[in-house]
Amino acid sequence: MTPVEEIIAARDELTLEQLIPLLQEIQEREGFVSQAAMGSVAEALEMPVSRVYGVATFYNQFRFAPLGAHVIELCRGTACHVKQSLALAQHLNRRLKLRDDGNSADGRFTVITVACLGACSIAPVIRLDGEFYGHLTAEKLDTLLDGVETQEAEAEGERAA
Ligand code: FES
Repeated sequence: MTPVEEIIAARDELTLEQLIPLLQEIQEREGFVSQAAMGSVAEALEMPVSRVYGVATFYNQFRFAPLGAHVIELCRGTACHVKQSLALAQHLNRRLKLRDDGNSADGRFTVITVACLGACSIAPVIRLDGEFYGHLTAEKLDTLLDGVETQEAEAEGERAA
């Protein structure tokens, strides 16, 4: 049984009300909701897959591609917006060549836009792999990402040695 089948099988009842909870649980377990998972949910709830897709894409809590190795949560809340978070978003977009699903062209980074990270006093803020970084500028962001890339290259070198 696949993880998605297990999630579906664990439900006492399969009604329309289960659609969003099922998608949430699948995303929690798998990190995203795949086409195949939507197909399984549609089959279990006896509804067209287009309807499952329509509901899933309506809510921006769902992701449809796996997360990259590094997750950047970019705050676009009011305090961060006032402190030029849009410029940071544009910079990330350019540097990482972000695709529509928020993943970088090389698949190593995922950028997720969030409403407020609860750290408004250090706006503009991102959370990179769970760590907060505030008072950011494009230059500081580059230094941060350069650091991640250097660490990765070193880890790669150690693995190869
Ligand atoms: S608005 Fe960005 S941390 Fe609150």
